[in-house]
Order: sequence, then C-alpha cells, then structure tokens
Amino acid sequence: MRRVEIFENIDKMKKFLNGESSIGFVPTMGALHRGHRSLLERAREENRIVVLSIFVNPTQFLEGEDFSKYPRTLESDIEIAEEVGVDAIFLPTAENLYFSDELGVIAPKVRGFILEGERRVGHFNGVLQVVLKLFNIINPDRAYFGKKDAQQLILIQQMKRDLFLDVQIVPVEIVRDSDGVALSSRNRYLSEGERESARTIPESLKIAEEMAENGESLAKIRDEIGDRLKNLDVEYIEIIRRDLGKIEEIERGNSIILLAVKVGNTRLIDNSWI
Ligand code: PAF
Repeated sequence: MRRVEIFENIDKMKKFLNGESSIGFVPTMGALHRGHRSLLERAREENRIVVLSIFVNPTQFLEGEDFSKYPRTLESDIEIAEEVGVDAIFLPTAENLYFSDELGVIAPKVRGFILEGERRVGHFNGVLQVVLKLFNIINPDRAYFGKKDAQQLILIQQMKRDLFLDVQIVPVEIVRDSDGVALSSRNRYLSEGERESARTIPESLKIAEEMAENGESLAKIRDEIGDRLKNLDVEYIEIIRRDLGKIEEIERGNSIILLAVKVGNTRLIDNSWI
C-alpha cells in the first residue's frame, strides 16, 4: 500500500500541490466511516491527485455542542486514506488556519438560517468560512460532499455560485447501514436501545418516498413521518425545494424531506431527495 503524505503546514501543503491539475478534495472532520470512504473513492476515480482534509472546525460548533468530545480517530483515518489511495492528508490546526479579528463569511440571510441554521445559529457561517479557506489552500478542481448534510451541500453550492469559485461541487449519495440508519460520526454515541429507535428515521423516510411517488400531499406526508417518529424527540420535519425555498406541494425531482431528531442525547439528521 502506498503511504499517504501528511501536511500540517499550509505552505508545505500548497507547495505539494503547486502546478498539479485534476485535484479532487474531500474535506472532513475525521472519524471516517463508509460514508467518507465513498467520497474518497469517488474522488479517487475522477482525479489524478486526491487530498483529504481532517479538521474538527471549532467555529461550526455552538456553545454546549460536542466539539471537545467529537470523535478523533486519526490512526484509523490514515489507514482508510491509504487503503483508498489518497495522495495527501491536510491536517491544519486552528492556530494556523484562523487569525484574530479576521473577516468572516456569512451564510445567506434566509436560507442560511432555516432548519439547521435556525436551531444552530452561526453553524453555517463557520462551515462556509472553513470550506472557503480550505478551497483557497487546496485549490481543487472538484470537491466532494455527502447529501446527508443536505443544507450544508446546498449552501456550499450557493457559495460557489455567489463568490464565483472555480471548483466543481460533487454531491455524493447517502451511505446507510444495513438497518437503514445513515452513517454519521455521531452514531457511535448511540446505545443499543437508541440505535434500535433510530431505525424508525429511515423507515419513516422510506414510507414518505412511497407516498410522494403515489402523489400524496405534502401535509399528509409530513404528518405520516411525524406519526412514525412520535416516540422520538423530533426537532423538525420539513419538505422544501432543493434550493431550500418553501413549497406548498411536492415538486417531484426537486424536493427534499429534511428531518432532525434527538435520540437520547444524540441529535441525528437525515433526509430524502424526492
Ligand atoms: O461535513 C463536514 O464534515 C464539515 O462540515 C466540513 C465540510 C468538513 C467543514 O468543517
């Protein structure tokens, strides 16, 4: 197996990539699972050079969130990177990525502050800020993001448009475990019983997809999901357009069902693109 190059230093990372074309980039916060692996594999297929970044970005966590206990599994992350054939891992530190009193990126006023953005105010500012910094360092041709974080993906696509970024944003399908639960680094917080309860999330989405196919109304579908998740602590169930605009009825091929649910102390998000 080829050994992956690891860079903490920004200038050395840039120097390694200097003059390269066809760079595929997968930004992550580490704790890699099969979902990340599918991003890396896709990047490997489509590019000459593949760069993975691992950085638990403090600015996208709110007060009281799990920043300090967020899983950090560098050794196994490096193993996965080597198995997939990643060329370089970028491992910046907050000290070399951020400055004091620096200028910021602000998520769009409406779409950046609904659903996830409304409950986690400032979260998307932090995500967009760090992704822009990483894009400017890596200068990728293509960057890969999972559809599981649907709002994040859509806002990054908007940032590319609004700031005229020269990078192709590649959305990658959600990867699910055999029980249907979408892979997430936070799944490891779930107890066995909680994991059992978490299954109702993909189950409810599946029923919702079938209902949408059968032309049921948006309200009826939302109620059905709510019913199926009634034993969990539901934060939101929303069906919106893929540009995050409000809709009265489902637009087939242009809508997303988004939900956030707390299972015990673990907050899970999932979605379905319908
Ligand atoms: O999806 C993630 O893991 C993070 O939000 C990202 C895109 C790496 C930015 O920190």
